[in-house]
Amino acid sequence: MNPIQVGLLGIGTVGSGTFKVLQRNQQEILRRAGRGIEVTMVADLDVERAKSIVGDAAKVVGDAREIIANPNIDIVVELIGGYGIAKTLVLEAIAAGKHVVTANKALLAVHGSEIFAAARAKGVVVAFEAAVAGGIPIIKALREGLTANRIEWIAGIINGTTNFILSEMRDKGLDFDVVLKEAQRLGYAEADPTFDIEGVDAAHKATIMSAIAFGVPVQFNKAHVEGITKLSATDIRYAEQLGYRIKLLGITKRRDSGIELRVHPTLVPAKRLIANVEGAMNAVVVQGDAVGTTLYYGKGAGSEPTASAVVADLVDITRLASADPDHRVPHLAFQPDALADTPILPI
Ligand code: NDP
Ligand code: HSE
Repeated sequence: MNPIQVGLLGIGTVGSGTFKVLQRNQQEILRRAGRGIEVTMVADLDVERAKSIVGDAAKVVGDAREIIANPNIDIVVELIGGYGIAKTLVLEAIAAGKHVVTANKALLAVHGSEIFAAARAKGVVVAFEAAVAGGIPIIKALREGLTANRIEWIAGIINGTTNFILSEMRDKGLDFDVVLKEAQRLGYAEADPTFDIEGVDAAHKATIMSAIAFGVPVQFNKAHVEGITKLSATDIRYAEQLGYRIKLLGITKRRDSGIELRVHPTLVPAKRLIANVEGAMNAVVVQGDAVGTTLYYGKGAGSEPTASAVVADLVDITRLASADPDHRVPHLAFQPDALADTPILPI
């Protein structure tokens, strides 16, 4: 069977990691997907920089629409970010019958219902493992490993930048602004780091997890969002003296009357595992009625950890697209809106 053809939109931090992982682990990926996965086209605003990353391995274009118009491209990977051009391109790719992989939690948390509905109507998949907790396969865990459970609550450190800032402020006594700059240099922060430090990015991710766990539509506008900008080094020190760590947690919880969906700094007893998650690491705790408490830990941001999740989605779609239509894996067709109409509770 010919390799499946992938077009990459945006070859920045995550795009370049995705390209490198696909190249480096080609043999393993071929074995696991049952078919080769080739990035044959790349679009980026900076064509010269893109060419320096991909060399002769793929055609580089400045206009992403060239990729969408190419009938040979099976999967479009959107790694541009934001709600603007990324939304237009994702919808155009779906309309052209392409499967889509995206790491863009902002786009899905705000416009997910429209995007998933378009994908369902067209019979294509929108996969987004990388959108929540970077390299941690939490979407797979919620949809597959924990599928037998009634999920009761999810709580997690789901923004690497803010966890990095809080850790460095506490351990090294560094200033907020200094650590934020370092997080940007390391490729953890969003293009607009306000999303990280004001809790918006964590709320995007909590919104997506909430939709999957509770079968509600993605409703970022109902989330309670509070970031870390009002915290001082003194708050962090006092918390420490009282036996707590301050962590920015994303929490979503089932209540009798609806769903809680919130992000805010939280005092976590220092003995808890999650209190000891440091740097840009993420950790997500999921409580299910059958399994009890489970914990998922790993790198929540950065080039290759995030690429690990993007490539996992590519492998899943390749398996699906290459399978006999009567034996397709149904979970990939499942999209998170459409199950229930439970309200998100005001905080
Ligand atoms: P970057 O800013 O590093 O990369 C985005 C790339 O897209 C840049 O090279 C940019 O070019 C290019 N681009 C912008 N507009 C266009 C366009 N119209 N057509 C083609 N290319 C374009 O972002 P990241 O790689 O960090 O993030 C990508 C996505 O992944 C975002 O949605 C982000 O939220 C998400 N994500 C990021 C993680 C991380 O750790 N960085 C982790 C998990 C998810 P130029 O630079 O020239 O503007
Ligand atoms: N800016 C995000 C973070 C990237 O710091 O967690 C990963 O989604």
